[in-house]
Amino acid sequence: MHTVKRTVLVTGASSGIGRAIARNLLNQGHHVIGLSRDRTRFTRPMAGFSPVQLDLSQLRELPQKLRELAQTFPDIDAVVFSAGRGQFGSVEEFSYEQIEALMTINFTSLAFLTRALLPSLKRKARSDLIFIGSEAALKGSRKGAVYCASKFAVRGFTQALREECGRSNVRVCLINPGMVKTEFFEQLSFEPGDEASNYLLPEDIAETVAYVLNSRTQIVIDEINLNPLNKVVKFKK
Ligand SMILES: NC(=O)c1ccc[n+]([C@@H]2O[C@H](COP(=O)([O-])OP(=O)(O)OC[C@H]3O[C@@H](n4cnc5c(N)ncnc54)[C@H](OP(=O)(O)O)[C@@H]3O)[C@@H](O)[C@H]2O)c1
Repeated sequence: MHTVKRTVLVTGASSGIGRAIARNLLNQGHHVIGLSRDRTRFTRPMAGFSPVQLDLSQLRELPQKLRELAQTFPDIDAVVFSAGRGQFGSVEEFSYEQIEALMTINFTSLAFLTRALLPSLKRKARSDLIFIGSEAALKGSRKGAVYCASKFAVRGFTQALREECGRSNVRVCLINPGMVKTEFFEQLSFEPGDEASNYLLPEDIAETVAYVLNSRTQIVIDEINLNPLNKVVKFKK
């Protein structure tokens, strides 16, 4: 493993998986640019951490905002895409607006961010695009039509992007976790079971990201699936 100082943009850095990834990268001495809709969620100033406020669901404003971001931080040589949200229900339970909004935050905004940063990433000696997918990117499940579709879209995107970047120094990786104990479940009617073997920890995903980022430059880790040892879904009362 080679630990070279990187400048990593982490979306969803204010909570859950993204926050654990940002912390782990900071502990390793990397420069982390953390994204959230609300800058004030980053309460403690930390060496090597640059907070950025950006609402990834505002697609129309995104190209301009991303241009500014790339100009402010020209050294970005890795992006971890962790912003996203869970919403579950049958298709008929979703309004048209809800379908569009979930696809926007879980897929389209990632494509916009990639589109905006790829030209400069291609000019770097090495760069990484690491996407947090989901087990829902691998298999459709009941009440998951729109969520699974958004994650399948991410998986198709990363596979094609990997081909597209095959002659450059840009590496593309998709990480598909099963249930991770985070704030993700706060608004949902279910959550992982209580036993430690029923869930992944955000730190598990952070370590996986560090493994990918620090791997030998000449290899690409295309996709990693990881799951809790004993999957238990607990429905809230
Ligand atoms: N937890 C799980 O079981 C699990 C399993 C597999 C995959 N995942 C995936 O992992 C990713 C992270 O989930 P998590 O568990 O860490 O959830 P979380 O704790 O709820 O964090 C979600 C993050 O996304 C950011 N976000 C949401 N909407 C945004 C927007 N419009 N613009 C910018 N940022 C936005 C939030 O930031 P602000 O609210 O501060 O803006 C927050 O930092 C998601 O893509 C999720 O689908 C989660």
